[in-house]
Amino acid sequence: MDDHILVERRGPVQITRMNRPEKKNAITRAMYARMAAALREGDADPAIRCHVIFGVPGVFSSGNDIADFLAYGTGGERGTESVDFLMALAQSEKPLLSGVDGIAVGIGTTINLHCDLTFATPRTVFRAPFLDLGLVPEAGSTLTAPMAMGYQRAFSLFVLGEGVSAEEAREAGLIHAVVGEDELEEKTLSAADALAAKPPEALRIARGLMRPDREELVKRIRVESDHISERLHSEEAKAAFSAFLDRKRG
Ligand code: COA
Repeated sequence: MDDHILVERRGPVQITRMNRPEKKNAITRAMYARMAAALREGDADPAIRCHVIFGVPGVFSSGNDIADFLAYGTGGERGTESVDFLMALAQSEKPLLSGVDGIAVGIGTTINLHCDLTFATPRTVFRAPFLDLGLVPEAGSTLTAPMAMGYQRAFSLFVLGEGVSAEEAREAGLIHAVVGEDELEEKTLSAADALAAKPPEALRIARGLMRPDREELVKRIRVESDHISERLHSEEAKAAFSAFLDRKRG
């Protein structure tokens, strides 16, 4: 289970890799918990100057594990792990970068709205099909996406559920750059090294000034999460999750 999240340090850069390719990096409660802990540990350690998040080749993440969603909707516990991870993203004091290749659905898209720089490959498609799952957008994206992309582009991505190619995402301001698959890791890490070499205190202040108001973001994550907890019990959501999980049986 621990192998689903791999954390390594490369000098002042802490790299977190989602590594559950057999489920297209669907994120479980245990994975959220490990990623939240890694972010907090890196933030607390003066030797770390920068965080980087990667998936595996062809897959960044297919989003929250739908079996976990269905388990909660049918009487199980939701747990606090996913919200804790979102809080760790929102509260991080150090730059966050991501390198995205291929599938980027749900939280696989919204993580990037917390990043200071995202690099993505040409075959990447960002999708946020929250509405079609009977849910509402999460991770503070109802606040950050319209700020990053403008309201109507955010609405088409998050409500209409239209996919966005890497190039469109770059033009829309959702990501920083489009790079080839074979150079994704190198370009992302080289930007991380450049940020790690900046004066850390000036960087912390500049970042704090440029990002959305943290209190407002944290509050929005909680409000969205409350709606999601309610929605996960809705017939709309449970029918959508069951249809996905049963799709290969029919
Ligand atoms: N939660 C749980 N399991 C998931 C998953 C998710 N979010 N995404 C993929 N998987 C599982 C599939 O059930 C399948 O498991 P199986 O091999 O045991 O049947 C495995 O991962 C491979 O997925 P598959 O659908 O066969 O791969 P694909 O390449 O044809 O399609 C996706 C990839 C990402 C387009 C498709 O899996 C998908 O739409 N996933 C759901 C995305 C989603 O709605 N996420 C929630 C957002 S809030």
